[in-house]
Amino acid sequence: MNKRKLTNTNIEVSTLGFGAMRLPLLDAKDNSSIDEKKATKMIRYAIDNGVNYIDTAYPYHGGKSEIFIGKVLKDGYREKVYLTSKLPCWNLKNKDEFLKIFTEQLNKLDVKYLDTYLLHAMNKKSWENVNDLGVLDFLDNLKEQGKIKQAGFSFHDDYEVFTKIIDSYNWDVCQIQFNYFDSEAEDMLNYATDKGVDVIVMEPLRGGALVNDLPEEIIALFNNATIKRSPAEWGFRWVYNHEKVKLILSGMSTMEQVIENLNTFNYATANSMTQEEKHMMEEVTQVFKDKILVPCTSCQYCMPCPYGVNIPLMFKTYNNYSMFGKSDKYKNQYQEWARKEENRFTADVCVGCRVCEDKCPQNIIISERMIDVDRELG
Ligand SMILES: NC(=O)c1ccc[n+]([C@@H]2O[C@H](COP(=O)([O-])OP(=O)(O)OC[C@H]3O[C@@H](n4cnc5c(N)ncnc54)[C@H](OP(=O)(O)O)[C@@H]3O)[C@@H](O)[C@H]2O)c1
Repeated sequence: MNKRKLTNTNIEVSTLGFGAMRLPLLDAKDNSSIDEKKATKMIRYAIDNGVNYIDTAYPYHGGKSEIFIGKVLKDGYREKVYLTSKLPCWNLKNKDEFLKIFTEQLNKLDVKYLDTYLLHAMNKKSWENVNDLGVLDFLDNLKEQGKIKQAGFSFHDDYEVFTKIIDSYNWDVCQIQFNYFDSEAEDMLNYATDKGVDVIVMEPLRGGALVNDLPEEIIALFNNATIKRSPAEWGFRWVYNHEKVKLILSGMSTMEQVIENLNTFNYATANSMTQEEKHMMEEVTQVFKDKILVPCTSCQYCMPCPYGVNIPLMFKTYNNYSMFGKSDKYKNQYQEWARKEENRFTADVCVGCRVCEDKCPQNIIISERMIDVDRELG
């Protein structure tokens, strides 16, 4: 596995990191029901084959991801990886909560320190809140005590907010969403790197949207390429081609994905894409851009909805409907869900309370888009 050196700590991280947000489940409807047996095999296999960076967070898998990662890293695996978790920064009311949550996280992970600690999902509002509460002093203290080795933030907002946060502290790393569909984030990559802040990429396949159920035009473009690669490999290849990217996280959900991605990253060399390949990726992007209606990545941050709407599923169905020739398949599916007598979760259940909107990293005006979804599919 190729490695890239981080600027401030000189540690060498594998180009592929394991994101513990989309682990296999025992019950597809229950995001907290991690299939621990399968997931343990997958993560340890990845580590045994060169992955040395694990990314988790307080809310992943309904709060179970950190506890599970703590178990996976027993038997000597903790020493083989750089471990990241994140401070949930939404709805914090006072600075005492920082230490309370951090201590809980160390306990859940059953570790003495974290290699990287990120302020989770920073946007204008959450940044202003935690900054006012003194989060930067808190990070300084953790570093001084050796409880974290690197401090950073993960980010979901616009360029202006990003540069403001970058300029506010001596960050080691930041985590941004960067993939061929979200290529405009290259401005952030350049800005951070110029300021000595290393960039870690999340959602390199847009949470699977750049891989699953692709439109025929895109499959044809990939099939016509000189070298045959899977859609996942093309997606990763586009990201690792950028030499400023230090590490790419993937939330792998099956052992097959782990094996394929390990193979892909064994050849992850920056600046290796030809002009012809770059041009093809631009064409692929355009096909998507012409079809996607809502930029939801199914990160689940909006959930649970107090009224029971399955927000990510609604947007996925709506986007699929648009991307795949407005097929009746998606309308029929939606209408079948909408006919349920109990526990209905379709877009028409939305009352517009907007609780979800503050939590959406993509800043989607969810309540308005739910009306569009129901108008089109209902
Ligand atoms: N800090 C933040 O705000 C934030 C936000 C989002 C993510 N993250 C972190 O970043 C990590 C990476 O983001 P992500 O999970 O969205 O990564 P991603 O690689 O964009 O998406 C992962 C999904 O892509 C599909 N996939 C991966 N490899 C594949 C392969 N070889 N073939 C076919 N499909 C493949 C799978 O979808 P299917 O399961 O549908 O097959 C998988 O669940 C997360 O796990 C999390 O740790 C952080």
